Amino acid sequence: MAHQNPWPDEGNTGHIWDEDLRELDNPPPLWWMLSFYAGFIMIIFYTLYYPTIPLTNATGEFTKGMTGWTQVNEYHDDFKVLKDWRDSKFADKEEKLAAMSVTEILQDEELKSYAVATSKMLFGDYCAACHGAGGAGNPSFPVLADDDWLWGGSVAQIEASIKNGRIGNMPAKGMMGNLSDTEIDNVADYVIALSQGEGNDVAYSAGKAAYTKGMCLACHGPAGKPLAPVGAANLTDQIWRFSGNREEIRGVIANGVNVKKNGEYVAGTHQAVMPSFKERLPNADVNVKRLAVYVHALGGGQ
Ligand code: HEC
Ligand code: HEC
Repeated sequence: MAHQNPWPDEGNTGHIWDEDLRELDNPPPLWWMLSFYAGFIMIIFYTLYYPTIPLTNATGEFTKGMTGWTQVNEYHDDFKVLKDWRDSKFADKEEKLAAMSVTEILQDEELKSYAVATSKMLFGDYCAACHGAGGAGNPSFPVLADDDWLWGGSVAQIEASIKNGRIGNMPAKGMMGNLSDTEIDNVADYVIALSQGEGNDVAYSAGKAAYTKGMCLACHGPAGKPLAPVGAANLTDQIWRFSGNREEIRGVIANGVNVKKNGEYVAGTHQAVMPSFKERLPNADVNVKRLAVYVHALGGGQ
């Protein structure tokens, strides 16, 4: 640094490096000063307008600003705009769903895909806990994504299942409760043979006789295939409502399904209750139909 200032009149600050490198004392450009002041004005504006200053008390209070703006309010406002737009865009489709029957909806390709597309969340929220994601089933809860139906696979029958719920009833030890332990064993073997297409083998004639004695055919049909959708399982296929091992099959025959005494389930009976959804679902008038069309489309709707 030089000790003498060789440029006394040029308005430098007297700081000089490397012989001639000087710090001058010029005012900043006007545009720069204006933005600088504008910045201050903005600080005052922001401080008053938005929630800004944390107040040093224990409750976490802060200044709320002139308009009460918060990010959450802004989110809710934007969300409402989106919802109103959606509601108006799909209002005609929702009205049609409300007015038409499920059978009619099924015949309208566009409406059908709309019902299916808008059902996924609903199914996840209200049905998947029991029936599995996409209706793939869970132990003791039927698969909905196949063409094996207890209560019928027409879209109207599916609608009735969802709306009113279903309770399959099977008495223990045959219709009259009069099968002996041996007969139960025999009929269990017969049922397993039926599922493998071997029910007519002589080896199973005792089981077949027990099937007749127990009047199993009243629900399961004369050959193990229900003649009407009364909630009884088809015994001629490999699809088991419960686990399908011999122990469990024998247990179903011995203890029945949903058998109650004095309002209580009897020990060992299989519980299988599909709850009614006409009061559980929001906007049930439309949503039961929507889900019926969805479930029908999942797999083997008839
Ligand atoms: C608490 C468990 C549970 C929930 C939740 C549930 N279900 Fe079910 N559902 C069942 C059971 C158990 C059955 C079988 C009833 C029987 O054995 O007769 C069933 C049967 C059905 C059937 C008849 C299947 C057939 O083979 O005929 C349909 C359709 C169905 N459910 C649809 C739904 C839909 C759609 C939802 C959601 C709105 C739903 N379920 C929610 C337990 C449930
Ligand atoms: C009143 C009607 C009814 C009668 C009679 C009846 N069942 Fe059932 N059966 C049902 C119903 C309902 C179910 C359970 C379906 C469900 O909830 O998934 C069932 C289920 C079964 C199952 C379990 C099937 C599976 O997929 O896991 C077997 C096995 C069975 N019945 C055998 C018999 C035999 C054998 C008899 C005669 C001794 C008989 N049933 C009599 C209605 C009946």
